[in-house]
Amino acid sequence: MSGNIITIDGPSGAGKSTIARLCAMRLGLRYLDTGAMYRAVTLHCMRKGIHLDQPKEIAGALESLVLRVELTLDGPMRVFLGDEEVTDKIRTIEVTRNIHYVADVMQVRNYLVEMQRKIGETGNLVTEGRDQGTLVFPNASLKVYMFATPEVRARRRFAELKQRGSDTTYEEVLEDVSKRDYLDMGRELGGLKKALDAVELDTSELSPDQVAESIVKLAKSRLKMQTRKIDKGALDAARAEEERRREGGK
Ligand code: DC
Repeated sequence: MSGNIITIDGPSGAGKSTIARLCAMRLGLRYLDTGAMYRAVTLHCMRKGIHLDQPKEIAGALESLVLRVELTLDGPMRVFLGDEEVTDKIRTIEVTRNIHYVADVMQVRNYLVEMQRKIGETGNLVTEGRDQGTLVFPNASLKVYMFATPEVRARRRFAELKQRGSDTTYEEVLEDVSKRDYLDMGRELGGLKKALDAVELDTSELSPDQVAESIVKLAKSRLKMQTRKIDKGALDAARAEEERRREGGK
């Protein structure tokens, strides 16, 4: 490994993507969103019209998959299926609801893990997901496991949805959050789990900026990394973009 790799794992709704983006910006690293890769494979399978409850069909769909991700230094990650950019199209409720079928298939996980490791070969990466510190990059320079109670995550998500005029109830959102936790944690291969050497961060009472700052502090003290000042415009743009992406129904 030539440069530092920082892994950030945790359940959905713990604020990982915003925080990982902020850390990458402050530390001048590339940002890898591995959830987006699982989303893209899900969209590919849905478009092919295969039976999602048939793992063999999902594995077979890998043959026609042409997945490409574009990482920029501290910028957002772009996702392509063939020549088509699907960065936003993978953020629909339908994709979110179907991901678990695809994420449970061993061939899919092996395919994406290999892609992720290839991206990580040159280091200089903040990578975010469920299995990054445990399975994909067991030798990462710094591992973070981020969590917040299901109630806090559901409350945040509910507030977001309400603001957008959705009539979903808090109870429904909480049920959805709990179901995703159950599926993510119970996955045999690549299930959500804290790496033994990961630093645990409870984000329940903290803002994304506060969490990002504590990770940056760890990177400075443990890895002797340098930080950069980020211009406010770039920071606001990154936050707005994360916000817009979530609108699609993550
Ligand atoms: O981070 P996200 O919500 O976009 O991830 C979507 C789903 O993808 C998540 O519910 C589980 C799956 N996933 C996974 O199995 N392994 C990862 N490293 C990242 C995501």
